[in-house]
Amino acid sequence: MVVLGIETSCDETAASIVEHKNGKKKVLSNILYSQFKEHKKFGGVVPEIAFREHVKLIDKIIIKALNKGKKKFKDIDLIAATGGPGLHGGLLIGTTVAKSISLSINKPFVPINHLEGHILSPRIEYNLSFPFLVLLVTGGHTMLIIAHKIGKYEILGLTLDDALGEAFDKVAKLLNIGFPGGPQIEKYAKKGVPNIKFAQPLINSNDCNFSFSGLKTSVLKKVSEKKNSIKFKEDVCASFQYTILNILEKKSELALKIFKKKFPTKKKNFVIVGGVASNLFLRKNFNKFAKKNNCKLFVPNKSFCTDNAAMIAWTAMEKYNNKKKNNLNFQPLPNWQI
Ligand code: KG4
Ligand code: ZN
Repeated sequence: MVVLGIETSCDETAASIVEHKNGKKKVLSNILYSQFKEHKKFGGVVPEIAFREHVKLIDKIIIKALNKGKKKFKDIDLIAATGGPGLHGGLLIGTTVAKSISLSINKPFVPINHLEGHILSPRIEYNLSFPFLVLLVTGGHTMLIIAHKIGKYEILGLTLDDALGEAFDKVAKLLNIGFPGGPQIEKYAKKGVPNIKFAQPLINSNDCNFSFSGLKTSVLKKVSEKKNSIKFKEDVCASFQYTILNILEKKSELALKIFKKKFPTKKKNFVIVGGVASNLFLRKNFNKFAKKNNCKLFVPNKSFCTDNAAMIAWTAMEKYNNKKKNNLNFQPLPNWQI
């Protein structure tokens, strides 16, 4: 089976070909155009601009994905596109193009939940079996989830306000160090010293929920108190990352305890997914965390952490076969929950 996947839920225009052949699933191409240059001067993603860019690029990106994967439209058995959550305009472009291809080659279209794409993304590279614990950290969501099996996800906790990626982006904006914020904070933090104490909302709440808006305010207070030297910005970034690590570790420990209670005889498989999981400081420290907590950690390659279409095609391949009924009546769901 050959699947064409399309991802347009935010500011990445992406397409991918995934093949299931001789019992093996393989990503043949994973093409992406990141629109950050178009959004940079606004310090965040502008939905109308993202929409227009998707319109401009989507056909070229799909053709590139087909060429790189050495496939033609006639080889495709299933067409998948992100159906939500995300920006409505982008979702509309991706699903409409996918439906049009589906109609023209007479193969089924399936909408995919973007969060499920992230959750299953480690299975692209790793032989990861269910159940597993997921720390999902993106620009729009922050959750601890137990993935019981494909299609069955139990949310243990989630953010009550900002998502973690959003907090990275907002703090970077406060410091005026550029967009997207995550990679910039990571860069500045490398040279900084974590010598500033920031608030850690909900750290002692004894549940798996998060809150990052108070942390952002705590950064804002320090920033407006001090002069904004490069050294100061580096220390703020290092301290911010350190605080984040502390919060994520504390909540992950609680979630692992719940996991262990539910599955006392199973291996403790723990995955971190989403754009923030590409942060090297967090990746390095979570390796230590895994050793300490006796669990097996899986973090996808960076290209599968940030938004990509391979995870969408992959999820479609895991969930459906090519006999799936066509889903041409589907309408984008900007707030689609898992
Ligand atoms: O998963 P993703 O690509 O898109 C969403 O589904 O939202 O996540 C994007 C988020 C952005 O907020 C971005 O700043 C953050 O991931 N991010 C990072 C890093 N790279 C991307 N955050 C921290 N460190 C990074 N290296
Ligand atoms: Zn995402």
